[in-house]
Amino acid sequence: MRTVTQAGPLRAAIKGWRNRGLTVGFVPTMGYLHEGHLSLIRRSRAEHDRTVVSIFVNPTQFGPREDLSTYPRDLDRDLALLTRQKTDLLYLPDAGDVYPEGHSTSVSVRGVTESLCGPSRPGHFDGVALVVLKLLNRIAPDTLYLGLKDYQQYRTLERMVRDLDVPVRVVGCPTVREKDGLAMSSRNIRLDAAQRRQAPALRLALLRGRDLVRSGVLSAARLSSEMSRAFRRSAPGGRVEYFEAVGAERLERVVRLSPEEPVCLAGAVRFGRTRLIDNEIVPARRR
Ligand code: PAF
Repeated sequence: MRTVTQAGPLRAAIKGWRNRGLTVGFVPTMGYLHEGHLSLIRRSRAEHDRTVVSIFVNPTQFGPREDLSTYPRDLDRDLALLTRQKTDLLYLPDAGDVYPEGHSTSVSVRGVTESLCGPSRPGHFDGVALVVLKLLNRIAPDTLYLGLKDYQQYRTLERMVRDLDVPVRVVGCPTVREKDGLAMSSRNIRLDAAQRRQAPALRLALLRGRDLVRSGVLSAARLSSEMSRAFRRSAPGGRVEYFEAVGAERLERVVRLSPEEPVCLAGAVRFGRTRLIDNEIVPARRR
């Protein structure tokens, strides 16, 4: 695997592939890789001649009181995993390469960013959209692979790509879970043993919501309170940031969900300083 840290050599490597008619898949990450990331890389490798992975803990998507400085990092381990997955190229820029002195442009996607994590993480999705747009401009891949665990991020980037005519296909890949249902996340490492035991309560609460939707409950307020209650019952050590039920495409808050549209049930909870998110999409046809 080749590692590049500057945009120049990155573009040159990709140009070389393009001149040979090769296709390129791209998996953006913030490192501390887990099976969820590796599943995206495998999918990209199955569908493309070359796969680029980026590792960049993007400062613009962290709020002032968030965990930028303590975000888990282990580059040696990541390099070993990427080599084992036969990744073709790792782009490992530093903040000065991505945001050089004088950088002053922002990217803001309205609508899909206004519910769920939007209100509690102001500016977060602007930072995600900005960095991913810059990475797409530098790499110009055929396909962008994203995990559906970050469902709102997926919808935001899909919207941005459509609105700004970015010539890339966006593919959302299924959430990879631990045996007990906890969605894999780089932040899981920060849970202590007692918190880790209670963390699957997030998934259980969303499944409770799914069962209610399937049984015909479409009141967003009722779904929210039932999911919160289910979480609190099995995770006394956790704190609910939100549980919400919104339409799965526009992520718009509504009083009553449409029986004709898929529903996105999403939750964010905290165990100590560790914030976990997860979601469940309930297709309309299964209700
Ligand atoms: O999901 C992530 O790890 C990040 O938000 C992403 C897409 C790599 C942008 O920094």
